Amino acid sequence: SVWSLYQSMNGVIAHRGASGDAPENTAPAIELAQQQGANWVEVDVTISADGIAVIHHDDELQRCTNGQGLVTEHTWQQLQQLDSGTWFHPSFVGTRILTLHSLLLLAAKLQLSLNLEIKPMAGLEQATIDATAHAIHSAAQSLDALPALLISSFNVTALQLAAKHLAPWPRALNVEAIDTDWPQQLQQAQCTSLHFDAQQLIPEQLQSVTSADIACAAYTVNQPSQAQDLWQMGVCAVFSDFPGPLSGAWQAYQS
Ligand code: G3P
Ligand code: MG
Repeated sequence: SVWSLYQSMNGVIAHRGASGDAPENTAPAIELAQQQGANWVEVDVTISADGIAVIHHDDELQRCTNGQGLVTEHTWQQLQQLDSGTWFHPSFVGTRILTLHSLLLLAAKLQLSLNLEIKPMAGLEQATIDATAHAIHSAAQSLDALPALLISSFNVTALQLAAKHLAPWPRALNVEAIDTDWPQQLQQAQCTSLHFDAQQLIPEQLQSVTSADIACAAYTVNQPSQAQDLWQMGVCAVFSDFPGPLSGAWQAYQS
């Protein structure tokens, strides 16, 4: 069930990998998250101009690569030439953008579970879900078992399409603040769990979610004390850029 999935997070989801210590959404950040004790990693999924699912947070290339312009204006052939590590620290020179396909193989090797946050450019929801489904199905052909997957998005259209084309996998709705009409929002988006912004916490709204036995997770939490308050309030897991210290805090909280 979706509860056992959230329980397997051990309180922490590595946010874009161990993105506090390595370039976000790259193989080094995924490997480091695993070394730091995370079971689950969140990544952002978008597409190249030729419809390949790739792991990248922003619409633009500027912040996290040595390229410029929109990710979706570049073919995979062009994207794979870019350096996605040097911007973070020169020691990561030569790091490349990941395809979702290669990420799935890496996660399987590292025995990591994945939260795929679908971040489609406006109007590219269908193409992004199609590319995601294609990557999952093709990775499944070369793996004994796929990693456990949780699909999430702020984009309701993408989630509705995921319900159709990625039906076997559970889905979470990402929101900023939890609104009073969260049950209708979940239903409309065809999701069973909720991810919200910890900075916009409204305790009464969170209480209404946990009382309804809906699993939830909060982004982005880097202070152990803040994580502990959220776990105490019934939040299953926090997305953190520093999964090492936060996993330590979870162990301490459990004992
Ligand atoms: O998926 C949780 C969180 O990552 C959502 O916000 O901007 O970090 O993708 P963002
Ligand atoms: Mg994200």
